[in-house]
Amino acid sequence: MTAKIIDGKAFAAKLRVRVAEETARLKREHNLVPGLATVLVGNDPASEIYVRNKGKAARDLGYHAVNVPMSAEASEAEVLAQVRALNDDPAVHGILVQMPLPKQVREAAVLDTLDPAKDVDALTAANAGLLLSGRAKLVSCTPMGMMMLLKEYVGDIAGMDALVIGRSLLFGKPAAQLLLAANATVTVAHSKTRDLPSVARRADILVAAIGQPLFVKGNWVKPDATVIDVGINRIDAGEGKTKLVGDVDYDGAVNVAGAITPVPGGIGATTIVNLMRNTLIAACLQSGLPVPAI
Ligand SMILES: NC(=O)c1ccc[n+]([C@@H]2O[C@H](COP(=O)([O-])OP(=O)(O)OC[C@H]3O[C@@H](n4cnc5c(N)ncnc54)[C@H](OP(=O)(O)O)[C@@H]3O)[C@@H](O)[C@H]2O)c1
Repeated sequence: MTAKIIDGKAFAAKLRVRVAEETARLKREHNLVPGLATVLVGNDPASEIYVRNKGKAARDLGYHAVNVPMSAEASEAEVLAQVRALNDDPAVHGILVQMPLPKQVREAAVLDTLDPAKDVDALTAANAGLLLSGRAKLVSCTPMGMMMLLKEYVGDIAGMDALVIGRSLLFGKPAAQLLLAANATVTVAHSKTRDLPSVARRADILVAAIGQPLFVKGNWVKPDATVIDVGINRIDAGEGKTKLVGDVDYDGAVNVAGAITPVPGGIGATTIVNLMRNTLIAACLQSGLPVPAI
């Protein structure tokens, strides 16, 4: 039997409709336009594409969208001054500083300067702490997308064994917290984990966020498990072409799993719309308005 395909793209399209409806309502009833600022330091080609796509998504929804390009040689003080200016700009409700940063700019210094109320990637220590305390208002976008897809395709995950492979601040750590809050029994694996295939075979929900193409093999997957593949890796497809693959060997896993996210079109498809959702939530909170249930 082949797994049910978890259609992140279709889910994201439905969520975008709800975000657009709420955006229109906020404008109509409160004259409030959500504002998103992106800061891109340097000219890493992948980061340029991410920032362009985020800006386009914001403009398409009618948001106030600002991009601040900065030179790859910008000093840390210059980047922090820019973040402070955006913190103080009332038309900007969400700020996204695209990572990775050039080596002279410390990520921690940027995050410690960013106003947590405008931290729509939920990377600041304040927002990570609120998530740990079960009081988060802004949740990291890709883990949030994972939880939405699990709710839609699996339903109640209480008591299930969940394994998250990867412990990044951006994905693995918040994903583990969200799974725990949903009453799964959570294990977090990383590069020092012993006998990962055996650990993986116990998981009812197997989440891979490693950044290594096709790393998780089909025979690591427990029959009928739900597989969430967060990895986005570009590999050689022959004849001078490339293609995107996940961290899971999809062809091997699809015949064992009960449900699986494809790459592309799975979990990654939900990230930008959740960034828009977070910007909308941030705009409501900063304006003293109730957060819409979307
Ligand atoms: N929009 C999206 O869909 C989205 C969002 C975020 C990330 N991603 C993708 O998800 C992947 C992971 O990104 P990230 O930023 O979360 O990760 P990251 O910061 O690159 O960290 C990778 C994690 O994987 C672990 N790891 C590396 N090799 C391993 C191995 N052989 N066995 C077990 N664990 C191993 C590392 O362990 P250690 O901690 O021990 O080093 C680390 O915790 C990337 O492909 C990225 O492009 C996609």
